[in-house]
Amino acid sequence: MSDEGKPAVCEAKRPRRAPRLPGDPRPEALVARMIRVDQAGEYGARRIYEGQLAVLGRKASGEKIRRMYEQELAHLETFDGLIAERRVRPTALQPLWHLAGFALGAATAMMGEKAAMACTVAVEEVIDDHYAGQADELGDAEPELKATIEAFRADEQEHRDVGLAAGAREAPGYPVLSAAVKAGSRLAIWLSERV
Ligand SMILES: [Fe+2]
Ligand SMILES: [Fe+2]
Repeated sequence: MSDEGKPAVCEAKRPRRAPRLPGDPRPEALVARMIRVDQAGEYGARRIYEGQLAVLGRKASGEKIRRMYEQELAHLETFDGLIAERRVRPTALQPLWHLAGFALGAATAMMGEKAAMACTVAVEEVIDDHYAGQADELGDAEPELKATIEAFRADEQEHRDVGLAAGAREAPGYPVLSAAVKAGSRLAIWLSERV
């Protein structure tokens, strides 16, 4: 099917795609930035789940966490591949995410299984928004990368739902914990896009 017959109003449905202005990064630079931050994020996710598993691996929620962890490993493998294939410079902050991700996972897990799940829900909500924004920004460009992002976004939404079903919202201090984890995740995204 061709797009030619469709009314021009379709373009108006993409408010986030502002026209490129002088001084804006080139499209290739934008894609490189996306791959860099996504590889960093999936690396951080792997480390969060490793921190959770170090504490809760043998507990009732261990199996659930392990399944999500295995999906994160697959996500990371894909973005590691894209980093190599597209010759994208990885984030210089990987050593920081190595420590911070694990620490976040382990610390929330030590607060209890529900706090671990609250951490998962908060992170995955931020990643859901982040991937939605990227898919939107790509528009019709890079269909393969866009399909990858959309598939991973569906997995992250599933992780969020696993966390909610496991009682994330019943964790002690949920609103504060959730807000802190979200703020940290957004900061990590902001930094990994740039550094
Ligand atoms: Fe992921
Ligand atoms: Fe995830």
